Amino acid sequence: MAKKKARPKREALLMARGITRRFGDRTILDGVDLDVAAGEAVGVVGPNGSGKSTLLRCIVGADEADSGETTLAGRELDERRPEIRQDLAVVMDDIDFFPDLSVVEHLDLMARAHSQPDAEEVVNVVLDEVGLMEVSGQLPSTLSSGQRRRLALASAFVRPRKLLVLDEPEARLDVEGVRWLGDKLVAEKRAGRAVLLVSHDPGLVERVCDRVVRLGPAPEPAPDATDVH
Ligand SMILES: Nc1ncnc2c1ncn2[C@@H]1O[C@H](COP(=O)(O)OP(=O)(O)O)[C@@H](O)[C@H]1O
Ligand SMILES: [Mg+2]
Repeated sequence: MAKKKARPKREALLMARGITRRFGDRTILDGVDLDVAAGEAVGVVGPNGSGKSTLLRCIVGADEADSGETTLAGRELDERRPEIRQDLAVVMDDIDFFPDLSVVEHLDLMARAHSQPDAEEVVNVVLDEVGLMEVSGQLPSTLSSGQRRRLALASAFVRPRKLLVLDEPEARLDVEGVRWLGDKLVAEKRAGRAVLLVSHDPGLVERVCDRVVRLGPAPEPAPDATDVH
């Protein structure tokens, strides 16, 4: 008989319990529990409108759940608390930039505002990694939508963080960009950080995520292979 591998018992870094969110008489989230340990990536998948972004927003405190609670490293997760902001980097699907700050000025501001030690060095490394070095002096309005997406991701990667929360980070990235993102997220786990990822890219989820939480109706069962002639 195959022996079950004992999993090391790790206290989850992020713990969400009973997250419930209603809009009017529609219950979008009904008591969702979710844990992410340090060094682990958890994927959230499901069709459009199944509540993935709402779940992330409730978890990071950008939206208020009707009930439920979230803790990060044992502390109530409230974005307004400095010690929480220090541990958390979030990239949602709504990207906003200061119109009159260049790419490098944005990243520099992000890094310094979040007390990144060696801000200059980190900004240079991330600029190179995301392929924005050539456009580092340009304003966000002059970037392509894919480059703006890269800037949004870079803004998270220049921050100190224990937990990275990403909503469809692959959106608008080219093939090479998605490959880079996969590498980067695997490196996040190796560095002992936790990743919570909403994605519609099965390849990215497969590569990065240790576990997957599915929202919305159960997927159609795959056709029975024995029925195919
Ligand atoms: N502020 C809001 N007011 C009313 N309905 C909302 C609000 N935010 C989200 N919804 C609804 O909740 C459902 C889930 O939305 P969302 O979490 O964005 O889905 P997903 O990210 O999985 O595509 C959708 O039907 C959406 O219309
Ligand atoms: Mg969404």
